[in-house]
Amino acid sequence: MNLMKKMLAVPAAVLALWAVTAQATTDEAIAERLKPVGDVCIMGEECKGVETVAASAGGGARTADDIIAKHCNACHGSGVLGAPKIGDTAAWKDRADHQGGLDGILAAAISGINAMPPKGTCADCSDDELREAIKKMSGL
Ligand code: HEC
Repeated sequence: MNLMKKMLAVPAAVLALWAVTAQATTDEAIAERLKPVGDVCIMGEECKGVETVAASAGGGARTADDIIAKHCNACHGSGVLGAPKIGDTAAWKDRADHQGGLDGILAAAISGINAMPPKGTCADCSDDELREAIKKMSGL
């Protein structure tokens, strides 16, 4: 009887293990499908995922991500020349607090400030597009 129980227990354990493994594979597959497109952008390279998303959004309209990837990321991605880094909200907030809020730093971005070129090299960006890019980079 004892042996019989053991013989039943082994396949049950194998089955349980198989079920767990199968679940893990499914979760991975789901995570793969759900993961954001183009979550890693490397400075100096085109941000492919972001462009695909923008293109599929239709109309060829630029998103804030598009502008950032093309124009702002070169400096703000890694903080070149003392540029406040993307996502470093504290650094952006500090600037905004001392320079008239979002409107103040927007104005500085439009005219250029020190090593920051006018409109951050996006000459054909509208003020609204720049504002959205700044909001996105700063989290303000
Ligand atoms: C060539 C490098 C470079 C590029 C490209 C660039 N920036 Fe900057 N940016 C800087 C630097 C450097 C500073 C800090 C300037 C300072 O205070 O000395 C800065 C500061 C800023 C500030 C803060 C201004 C303030 O008043 O403190 C804003 C806003 C800003 N950038 C927006 C942008 C946006 C939006 C883009 C893209 C459209 C962009 N930048 C592209 C270098 C760059």
